[in-house]
Amino acid sequence: MKQAFGLWQSSVGKKVTMAVSGIMLLGFVVAHLLGNFKVFSGQAEYDAYAEFLREMGSPVFGHGELLWIMRLGLIAVVGVHILAAVQLTQMSRSARSASYQKPHDVSLSYASRTMRWGGVIVVAFVVYHLLHLTFGTVHSEFEAGAVYRNVVSAFSQWSVALSYIIAMVPLGLHIYHGTWSMTQTLGLDGPRMSAVRRGVAGVLAVGITLGNISIPLAVLAGIVG
Ligand code: HEM
Repeated sequence: MKQAFGLWQSSVGKKVTMAVSGIMLLGFVVAHLLGNFKVFSGQAEYDAYAEFLREMGSPVFGHGELLWIMRLGLIAVVGVHILAAVQLTQMSRSARSASYQKPHDVSLSYASRTMRWGGVIVVAFVVYHLLHLTFGTVHSEFEAGAVYRNVVSAFSQWSVALSYIIAMVPLGLHIYHGTWSMTQTLGLDGPRMSAVRRGVAGVLAVGITLGNISIPLAVLAGIVG
């Protein structure tokens, strides 16, 4: 316990925490995207998938209970990811003010600045997205349980579709830089590995960005509706 706390207090420990929580969040984003692709199979399949998520764990758990436990777990992982990011930023700021900045720090600080701003935009998107498609607070035609109809009526408005499409760009950049640095934290280092890391980060970022964008585009184009 003492050792784990000591590790958390070090910058290496915080980087490992960021990498592990980042992998979990990436896992959610990929699983969510694969689930959302069911929208291309039509209303019945998409709504059945949404119902399956609520029925998970039955009969031990009641309707929607396990889903809520998983959502709370996800919120905790997001909290840990943000806390480690904020503390790493504070640590690197106080280290920088204690010594002269070296020339190679310029690109590093550019990437980490992008990560910070990207992270803030991604959090803002997720809050809006929950109010929009989970709680329906900011969706004028929202109907509880009608998940397919909610998605279609949302993206039939081009301004909403466009806001989702734009939000996927900072998410993609965050995934690219995040995968790049998390693979380094987890020990995949060296010139040969850096090509592999760049490739994996690129495939994930482009695949997730285009995959998500394809849904509002498909609704706007009348392919889903
Ligand atoms: C165009 C792409 C997306 C579509 C069509 C979409 C659709 C949805 C829908 C319909 C729900 C409500 C599910 C339900 O009530 O059963 C939902 C929930 C959620 N979405 Fe998305 N989503 C998209 C992208 C994203 C992205 C990129 C993220 C994260 C960065 C995200 C995070 C979440 C979270 C955290 C929830 C709440 C958890 C849950 O109920 O499963 N979504 N999404």
